[in-house]
Amino acid sequence: MLSTNIKEATKTAHQQLEKKVVLQLKAIRSNADYAALLKNFYAYFSQVEKAIAPFITPELLPDYKDRRNSSYLKKDIEELGFTVDDLPAATAPEISGTLSALGALYVMEGSIMGGSIIVQMLAKGGITQGVSFFSGYGPATGEMWGKFIAVLNQQAVTAGDESAAIEAANATFNRFGDVFEPAKAL
Ligand code: HEM
Repeated sequence: MLSTNIKEATKTAHQQLEKKVVLQLKAIRSNADYAALLKNFYAYFSQVEKAIAPFITPELLPDYKDRRNSSYLKKDIEELGFTVDDLPAATAPEISGTLSALGALYVMEGSIMGGSIIVQMLAKGGITQGVSFFSGYGPATGEMWGKFIAVLNQQAVTAGDESAAIEAANATFNRFGDVFEPAKAL
């Protein structure tokens, strides 16, 4: 099943990205530091959302409009007193069809799973403002993930479908990692 295979096949990419995010999280000492982390997420997620938009139709994923997206990041950045005018460089992976769009969305939706850990880490450092994005769907997180995974599995019919989604998911993790290493994102 794609949901099992994609998790396994992106394990290393997840770990590599997680390391970079945790490093930046641990260095946060102020709202300005936290806003800089949110800007990394916003710069990248807004690009990936644009890349997948032509393929994630209401027929494919009826509740897409209710899912958390980069507008939450913008709101959080503004709540902290900053703007999205000066963003870091970020490049979305190439998305060429429904399966690669779903692979990229898998990465963005899955990031909610680590969100509650991030909120806890921030709280330990005294940061409690601007956490709507990382709070995800709260108690509805499991249900929203289940609905997404069902669509993912239903769309992957052939082995080629699976590889298209997995390849895009790995690229989505890796291109996000580049944002944390500015020399690579140029
Ligand atoms: C501090 C950083 C992060 C931590 C601590 C973290 C932690 C976690 C944890 C604990 C899970 C659940 C694993 C499980 O239940 O088996 C998870 C799942 C996941 N995370 Fe992260 N994560 C982090 C950052 C990210 C980021 C930045 C992304 C993507 C942009 C991401 C994408 C995913 C995906 C796609 C899954 C779903 C895996 C699956 O069940 O198929 N994570 N993460």
